[in-house]
Order: sequence, then structure tokens, then C-alpha cells
Amino acid sequence: MTDKPRKTQPLPDSEARQSLEKNLQAPSHPDMIGRFHVKRRLGEGGMGIVYLADDPDLHRTVIIKVIRDERAHDDHFHKLFRREAELAANIDHPNVVKIHEFDADNLVLVMEYVSGGNLKQLLSTRGALDTDKALHIVAGIARALDAAYEHNIVHRDIKPSNILLTRDGEPKLADLGIAKRIRQPGTQSTLTGDSPGTPGDSGRERQRYQW
Ligand SMILES: Nc1ncnc2c1ncn2[C@@H]1O[C@H](COP(=O)(O)OP(=O)(O)OP(=O)(O)O)[C@@H](O)[C@H]1O
Ligand SMILES: [Mg+2]
Repeated sequence: MTDKPRKTQPLPDSEARQSLEKNLQAPSHPDMIGRFHVKRRLGEGGMGIVYLADDPDLHRTVIIKVIRDERAHDDHFHKLFRREAELAANIDHPNVVKIHEFDADNLVLVMEYVSGGNLKQLLSTRGALDTDKALHIVAGIARALDAAYEHNIVHRDIKPSNILLTRDGEPKLADLGIAKRIRQPGTQSTLTGDSPGTPGDSGRERQRYQW
């Protein structure tokens, strides 16, 4: 059965968003984000803070990403974020990190937890991968990008830390649909910019990683 994205539950209201923003500065973590029980802070990237949390309704571990952005109160930005998060949330593919819920008003994403770490960590602890393993990861991520193009999404931020691994070593692409929007505020959306999947776009990703 397809795990359809749920309608967003009330996550933080604007007051709670302000307290979340304070938490972005702190090494500690909030006890709760919306209905989710935060277990620990997993890390911090260019976009925001990532927390490991429990979903008490569905009894599962989830990842919550709170986007740190100076445009957290910008309506236009929220609209674009919502549109791209919706597209990403509808991708159901084994090599794409599933978005369970998102709160576009507060720039909070609730995602599938992928428990085997990321490729950057693997490369730094284990060094170069053997050819079979490397090809397996590249092929999985290529399939993920194909699925994304079918949903009119161009990732534009493919890098080892955005390639997560399951315990069995299966690759899953993270941060689909949000990376470019957050990083390049002046640029057009993937919906209104270059046609997704054009040789220009896919070529850029392939060229950079020599696929
Ligand atoms: N769905 C997930 N499951 C498990 N761990 C995750 C998940 N998403 C992110 N992480 C982990 O949380 C940490 C922070 O991730 P984040 O995406 O914020 O950083 P990044 O990829 O280095 O930077 P960027 O902001 O450019 O994506 C990383 O260690 C990452 O592996
Ligand atoms: Mg990332």
C-alpha cells in the first residue's frame, strides 16, 4: 500500500516557531516538535537542524528537519516551499527518502529515518569503496533522480551527505525538492525554471559526477 503523505498535523504555531528558532542556536534539543517526541539532535547542515524523534501516533522513529532560514516569515517563500515539498512528498521510490509530513508555514519537514548513516561518513571512515559497492550506490541514486524528474523535480545538490544508507547498504537520496530552493533564493523554481529532465539539467548532475 502506498504510504501517502498525511495531511499536516498542527506542528508549531508561530510562537512555537520562534522558540524553535532559539533552539537552532542551542546544542540542546526541544522535548517536543508538534506531536513528535524529540530524542536527539542528529546534526546540522546548511539548511537547518535535523532531529531524531518518535511519532507517538504511528509508533515509528522519524527525522524532523527544521529549516533555518531568514525567510521563515516570508509568505512567497512558504508558497514555493509548500509546492516543492508537495511534489517531493508524492515520490514513492525505494531510493528516495520519504517525506511523511511537512509544515510549510513553519518550514518543518518530517521524514523517513534512514539508519545506516550517510555516504560522506562511510567514505571518511572506510575510505574508497570497492567498485561493486560504488556502482550499486550510483545506480540507486540514478534511479532516484529519474523518479524525481518524473515528478518535475531537479535536485541540484547531489553530494555524499545527501546520500543516506540503510543498514543493508541501500542508498536513498535525501533533501529532494528543497535543496535548491533554500540555497539559491534568487533562482527560479524547478517548476518555472529550466524544464526538468532536460539535457541541460540532468546533464549538469551527470557531468559533475561523471555518470
Ligand atoms: N532522513 C534521514 N535519516 C537519517 N539521518 C538523516 C536524515 N536526514 C538527514 N540525516 C542526517 O542528519 C545530519 C544533518 O543532515 P543535513 O541534511 O542537515 O546536512 P547536510 O546534508 O550535511 O547538509 P545540507 O543542508 O546541505 O543537506 C546528517 O548527518 C545526515 O546524515
Ligand atoms: Mg542533507
